[in-house]
Amino acid sequence: MNTTIQTDNREEVRRKSMEALTPEIVQYIEQCARDEKSQSHLIGVLHRVQGHFGYLGREQLDAVAQLLQVPAAKVTGVATFYHFFRLEPRGRFVINVCLGTACYVKGAERVADRLKEELGIQFGETTSDGLFSLEGTRCLGACGLAPVVMIGDKVFGDMTPDQVPALLEKHAKMRDAEEGGP
Ligand code: FES
Repeated sequence: MNTTIQTDNREEVRRKSMEALTPEIVQYIEQCARDEKSQSHLIGVLHRVQGHFGYLGREQLDAVAQLLQVPAAKVTGVATFYHFFRLEPRGRFVINVCLGTACYVKGAERVADRLKEELGIQFGETTSDGLFSLEGTRCLGACGLAPVVMIGDKVFGDMTPDQVPALLEKHAKMRDAEEGGP
């Protein structure tokens, strides 16, 4: 009797884990789980999950632990240790401030400070309205335009702190337009 309940529970947990991911990711994890060293695939699996969902939510981390048969604490430990994993959803617009040498020399830090001040967030954070995320990044390959800020796939060069408010306002309006707002 007990065995039946445990089996049912296990199947229920497995079903929920599969629902938290995509069929392709589940298939990939199942392949990895067959490997004797399944834990060595953990980072690769988390990259795939983040690639699809944009971040690693609690539900997805638990699902990876279940399906890859790795302790949940280990999965959380890896996800929090590496800076390239995100545990929160990102904003509609991701602002990347280049902190490479050329941009730094030309005042990237002052631009970054103004962005932080205007948005009320630090690097790695997202505004409470979900509109902007702020990231610091290495050379974006546009050093001739330093200091450079990238929003989505658009590059904004020769940035000054004073240009920041207008740039943010322009993007806030873009979101309003997308939503059919004012
Ligand atoms: S250092 Fe900023 S684009 Fe190269």
